[in-house]
Amino acid sequence: MKLQIALLPGDGVGPEVIQQAVKVLNAIAEKFNHTFTYHKGLVGACAIEKFDNPLPKETLKICTESDAIMFGAIGDPKYDKDPNTRIRPEQGLLQLRKKLGLFANIRPVTTYNSLLHKSNLKEQIIDGTDFIIYRELTGGIYFGEKKLSDDGTIATDSCKYSVEEIDRIAHLAFKAAILRRKRLTLVDKSNVLETSKLWRTRVMEISKKYPSVKLNFLYADTAAMQLILKPTQFDIILTSNMIGDILSDEASVISGSIGLLASASIGKHTALFEPIHGSYPLAKGKNIANPLAAILSAAMLLDHFELYDEAENIRTAVEKSIDLNITTPDLNSKNHFSTTNVGNFISDFILDDDNTFYNKSNIDLGQSTII
Ligand code: IPM
Ligand code: MN
Repeated sequence: MKLQIALLPGDGVGPEVIQQAVKVLNAIAEKFNHTFTYHKGLVGACAIEKFDNPLPKETLKICTESDAIMFGAIGDPKYDKDPNTRIRPEQGLLQLRKKLGLFANIRPVTTYNSLLHKSNLKEQIIDGTDFIIYRELTGGIYFGEKKLSDDGTIATDSCKYSVEEIDRIAHLAFKAAILRRKRLTLVDKSNVLETSKLWRTRVMEISKKYPSVKLNFLYADTAAMQLILKPTQFDIILTSNMIGDILSDEASVISGSIGLLASASIGKHTALFEPIHGSYPLAKGKNIANPLAAILSAAMLLDHFELYDEAENIRTAVEKSIDLNITTPDLNSKNHFSTTNVGNFISDFILDDDNTFYNKSNIDLGQSTII
């Protein structure tokens, strides 16, 4: 298959993790005889520096002309110090989602056996966790009208949802549930918010078309608690933009590190794949950021084009790196490996079918001659 892939590394550790994802995609291209061509664009703080615009026209053009987008991370502390900054890096990502109509953000959460004991949560609670958050991505409070009164004393963010916006993601979530354990949990605040009431009404109506899926409802506050108390109860979580943002960061604790969570944003135009973590400015340039979320996002990209064997190859290699402890400091504080080492290991593992290239005893010692 020939794919044109837009690369938007963005800010902070974005470029470092995207570099590893590209390395891994190239290994897949070589092994399975595909041709992936990359087109780089600036987005976020680096685009503001150069063009005074977090989403320059040129970048948007690259995205609309590509088959898929690999996105790194966005944000720079420079903009966090002044809450009144006119242009913020995050606007680049939000505009991109809106302009491409990427209304569904899909965030899988699973555990890895060899990481269970490292979690801040008890092993017996998280063992077996396997759910996907379907987060609405182009509506709600993120995109509602924003106002500040003339005297600067009253601020408003309005939250708006239409039936169309709810229905289209609800159908995707139900379809995903059918292919899995057939449970869908709608998370909302319908005891308080009018928009949430509309979500419940629509989702109950739509559920009639998917009778094999068991639907249940949780208020967002309870869901936040249940996620930590008993994460194995969830299969598909369907929720609005802001609730999904908050719950997915919380859910990353279950996997062991936010550096492990990948995502796909799909909708009307070019689909986008990005790690859920931020730009992690403290780690920028240090070669310590975990590239696995970006690499697993590349696997989601391949799934999107129905290249399932290819995606599985990446996941197997990622699991191997975790099993062998070839991981960055967030997962392995003692004998950790660099961002580049982890990317090299995974791409080498994909290319070497017999996996003869690595020296297990050296890896056990926390060092390797080949990576
Ligand atoms: C995410 C991020 C973004 C969001 C930020 C960077 C605007 O936190 O993708 O989860 O809030 O959606
Ligand atoms: Mn977030």
